Amino acid sequence: MTVLAIETSCDETSAAVVRDGRVLSNVVSSQIELHAEYGGVVPELATREHLRNWMPVTQAALREAQVGPAELDAIAATQGPGLPNALMIGFKAAQALAFALRKPFLGVHHHEAHLYSPWVAGDPPSADFASFQPNVSLIVSGGHTMLVHVRAELEHRVLGSTLDDAAGECFDKTGKLLGLPYPGGPEMDRLAAEGNPAAYDFPRPLLREANDDFSFAGLKTSVRYFLEKHPGLADDRQKLRDLCASVQAAIVETLVAKTVRAVRRLGVTCVTASGGVTCNRSLRAELADACAREGFVLRLADRSLCTDNAAMIGILAERKLLKSSPETSFDADIEPGWVLA
Ligand code: KG4
Ligand code: ZN
Repeated sequence: MTVLAIETSCDETSAAVVRDGRVLSNVVSSQIELHAEYGGVVPELATREHLRNWMPVTQAALREAQVGPAELDAIAATQGPGLPNALMIGFKAAQALAFALRKPFLGVHHHEAHLYSPWVAGDPPSADFASFQPNVSLIVSGGHTMLVHVRAELEHRVLGSTLDDAAGECFDKTGKLLGLPYPGGPEMDRLAAEGNPAAYDFPRPLLREANDDFSFAGLKTSVRYFLEKHPGLADDRQKLRDLCASVQAAIVETLVAKTVRAVRRLGVTCVTASGGVTCNRSLRAELADACAREGFVLRLADRSLCTDNAAMIGILAERKLLKSSPETSFDADIEPGWVLA
């Protein structure tokens, strides 16, 4: 089966062609530079960029895959959750394409697609569902932080999610307090590599609570108070590196400890992780250490599939259509607040 997928839920315009579990192309046009000036995603600007880019990005994905519109068996798009007007561009464009080409159309839940991106690996990237195992999946990005029990393919239950800021949002907001360019996450990762993670003690939010929820807003506030108490500290290059390493350690330790606890409790033996923050080197290393210690199998999404992309939408859409999931009607609308159950 050959599927064209479009993703426009936030600030990446992406189109991909997937055939029989293989990613033939995955074109991503990031808007990071556009939003950097404002220190965060500006929805109106994101919408206009999606409108300008969805067609050239889709054409590039078809060209790279060497697939013509007539060869497509289905068309998919992210239906939610996300920024309403941003979602609308990709969803309605894909729906219109499917209507014109008389192909089945499928609207996909963005978070559900994240659950399966760790099973896509290799060159060209291919879905390895043959080695699928029941797992606990950590989805961790700028917009979401959640733990999900994936009992079987296409069967999941959300265990917990963030009560306030997402982990990536915490990286980005503390990065801003430290005077780092947007997005703060990759920059903190870089600086933290040469810093001392034990230099400063920041709270590990909800670490001891007996639930699978996260909360990162307090950590950001404690960094703000710390900087108010120690003005000028972040101007010292080494102290800045130590601060980055200490904040990163608080985030990473919380994510890893809560993931491991959920895995133990549920009696599964596999951990997966995806989302932009999964690019973080310390998170990757700490998850690998913890899983090796506990005897868990770890599957981390490939870096190219960690941040938002249409390949994961296409992979899930194809899997769902093969397993006879109902198509999405041409009357269906976007679901900006769609909550993963
Ligand atoms: O998945 P993504 O592209 O978009 C959504 O938010 O859905 O994730 C972007 C987030 C940003 O918050 C960014 O700072 C964070 O992922 N991020 C990182 C790293 N690379 C990206 N955070 C920490 N370390 C990184 N290396
Ligand atoms: Zn995402």
